[in-house]
Amino acid sequence: MDKVKKAIIPAAGYGTRNLPITKVLPKEMFPINRKPAIQYIVEEAIEAGIEEILIIVSRNKNMILDYFDRSLELEAFLEKTNKLHLLKDEVITNSPIQYMRQSYAEGLGDAVYLGKQFVGNEPFAVLLPDDLFLCPKKGALAQLIEYYKTSSMIGIQRVEADLLKNYGVVKAEKVKECQFQISDIVEKPEVSPPSDLAVTGRYIFNPSIFSYLEKIEKGAGGELQLTDAIKASLGDEKCFGIKIEGDRYDIGKEEDYIKLINRLWKNNSLKSETGK
Ligand code: UTP
Repeated sequence: MDKVKKAIIPAAGYGTRNLPITKVLPKEMFPINRKPAIQYIVEEAIEAGIEEILIIVSRNKNMILDYFDRSLELEAFLEKTNKLHLLKDEVITNSPIQYMRQSYAEGLGDAVYLGKQFVGNEPFAVLLPDDLFLCPKKGALAQLIEYYKTSSMIGIQRVEADLLKNYGVVKAEKVKECQFQISDIVEKPEVSPPSDLAVTGRYIFNPSIFSYLEKIEKGAGGELQLTDAIKASLGDEKCFGIKIEGDRYDIGKEEDYIKLINRLWKNNSLKSETGK
């Protein structure tokens, strides 16, 4: 069993649901209590043992590169004013991040495909930076890695029936408490979803997924869908759904975004009150 050491974070989408702000501020950089959303994702990946990260960006996402880079001018200023501690964050300056540009946002399947060279011959994780999890024990990706042996895995959660049309939905049979074997997957089913188990933004794939990504054609929303590549692989390979224990927040939805900020803010103020 190979260790999962590499992760792809696709962050090249246009964020159309959040326009007009996403015209200049990438959704992945939405602030959540003084940190951008994507930093929580990088932290989750590193905590799960990931050693190399590839972020897929596009032309208007340079802010992400700037954020995870040193700013010597700012450091010099803070040093002079004895405030350097305010910028002290290992994740920001020392994360093992590489970047690649997706020239046209043709879909998540296309974005992941760009990581083919980076991945090489190892299993790898995919984390969607607009899906944030608050988990009671282990981070969402760490939960998937705990179950990983050799087959691909998708983080899943139960979702209310009327919301299923917004997700990839799996048909799956329970194997263990939190583990399901997937026999079908449908992207955003308008009618008759195969279950109430929805795909979340956490995956572990074997490099064999690239041979399916190569062959997919434009699907739902006119995009190259990762879901279609997973579906194509199901006839040849096993794929498991792992039920993620924790609360999921889609920061592209205002309601979730505000709830997440409030919850983290309450947690933080509780910590400072109790000194923990
Ligand atoms: P989403 O569909 O949630 O994000 O994709 P989006 O496309 O930016 O937003 P809408 O649908 O237009 O409102 C999930 C993740 O995949 C990335 C996005 O940046 C987001 O983080 N993505 C999506 C890509 O990197 N490339 C793509 O072609 C599409």
